[in-house]
Amino acid sequence: MHNIHDQRLLIIDFGSQYTQLIARRVRECGVYCEIHPFDIDNSFVKDFAPRGIILSGGPETVTEGQTPRIPDAVLSCEVPVLGICYGMQALASQLGGQVATSNRREFGHANIEARQDSTLLDALALAPGHPVDVWMSHGDKVTEVPEGFVVTAGTDSAPVAAMEHAEKPIFGVQFHPEVTHTRLGGELLAKFAKTICGCDGDWTPANIVEDAIQQVRAQVGEDRVILGLSGGVDSSVVAALLSRAIGDQLTCIFVDNGLLRKGERDEVERAFSTAAGIGNVLPLDIRTVAAEEEFLSRLTSVEDPEDKRKIIGATFIDVFQAEAGRISGEQDAEHSIKWLAQGTIYPDVIESAASKYGKAHVIKSHHNVGGLPERMHMGLVEPLRELFKDEVRQIGLHLGLPRSLVFRHPFPGPGLGVRILGEVKKSYADVLREADAIFIEELRAADLYDQVSQAFAVYLPVKSVGVVGDARRYEHVIALRAVETVDFMTARSARLPYEFIERVSNRIINEIAAVSRVVYDVSSKPPATIEWE
Ligand code: XMP
Repeated sequence: MHNIHDQRLLIIDFGSQYTQLIARRVRECGVYCEIHPFDIDNSFVKDFAPRGIILSGGPETVTEGQTPRIPDAVLSCEVPVLGICYGMQALASQLGGQVATSNRREFGHANIEARQDSTLLDALALAPGHPVDVWMSHGDKVTEVPEGFVVTAGTDSAPVAAMEHAEKPIFGVQFHPEVTHTRLGGELLAKFAKTICGCDGDWTPANIVEDAIQQVRAQVGEDRVILGLSGGVDSSVVAALLSRAIGDQLTCIFVDNGLLRKGERDEVERAFSTAAGIGNVLPLDIRTVAAEEEFLSRLTSVEDPEDKRKIIGATFIDVFQAEAGRISGEQDAEHSIKWLAQGTIYPDVIESAASKYGKAHVIKSHHNVGGLPERMHMGLVEPLRELFKDEVRQIGLHLGLPRSLVFRHPFPGPGLGVRILGEVKKSYADVLREADAIFIEELRAADLYDQVSQAFAVYLPVKSVGVVGDARRYEHVIALRAVETVDFMTARSARLPYEFIERVSNRIINEIAAVSRVVYDVSSKPPATIEWE
């Protein structure tokens, strides 16, 4: 088989919120693709040697002079090109058609109707007399297609909902095939990637794992590698992958910072230290560092959330580095550790490589252990760098990791440290761990865990009166937070059944004497964030 990266598409990003979705849909049909900003050099496009190019949507208007344009190398290349929304408007305008600004945005569902036969639009089951429901989000519209193009679909308000060149493989769609509201939109992208661009579709979990194993072996040879294992999805998948690739050359460091969830340390140790726990994964060499005291003492009297984050991050680096030093001291000089493995995933890579032009849509980014690679003077092993989260999960399952681990809700690097408002104390962390465990246990029992994107308890150190039995209780408050979200950039609170919330509340107050009241957080993000700090 050829290299799984050979048949690839280039996605040029004009800044749409949906660009990553385009890439995910293309990958889902088994075709490798990469996202790059629109201001890449022409030589980059040539060297990339794509089988096809997709131009994303974007927030700008081509009717103004200084807005993003398609690189010349794209317009002059011979491979198929698909412009989506802004991408289509840019194609129209740069190839000699007309685009007009409209003062009314069209946003939401729309019905498109076929105007001409089109191989691409066949994927939508679009036929004369059979309009199809698609998702629109645009202000401008193409009013005149460039010479050589035909209109293949239209709506009442957008006469050019899709266009294509009569002879060359150049296509444009005004709607967004990448969002699930466009019925069969994924089929359209698959049609483009596989039939029109001629990609075989061998970007599959099995091939990705094989390829990653070869790459890691080639990169590190006989050297030793260390990995910070947190029990989260990404580092767990890295651990499983590296264990397959390099076996006992890998040593994992698990830092118990005292801000973990209930049972987390045991779970991780159990899952990875016994071959019985996990299908294909060898028992790992895990060094657990009990560092609760060090973290909590450095956090004494610190109330500001950002200060807490920084202290937790810095302490992590110190503890990790000290342990790595101990481990390398155990090795002979020749085998001292040269490589640090990290669970960096593709969205992190894209965001740090965002266009020089600037991007509006990165709302917040988190750096937990920023600075670790620089401080450690080691080479980086990042086997998930090319993968989206859903792909990481797929290969996790393929490697035999348990579903409960692979589909775990995200947990922030600073852990319970940002879920205890203000100063962090051990007694608060102990109470929060219990309350959180009750909430999660009930979510699992009610089959609700997988229906929410993230759920957790928050410790509010404000005193509130309650009555339990005949006794008055004057204790702290626990808030429950559960959200539904696709990308964690925006979220809404999950509409959990009242009876369910009530049951969790009763259990927490009855089982934990230090809690007198439970509340449910119904804020959306924005304006609230998911975490309370
Ligand atoms: P916010 O609170 O920003 O959270 O709406 C969005 C997502 O990011 C997680 N989060 C963090 N993750 N380090 C992390 O690794 C952090 O400092 C951090 N803060 C928030 C949060 O749990 C949610 O999934």
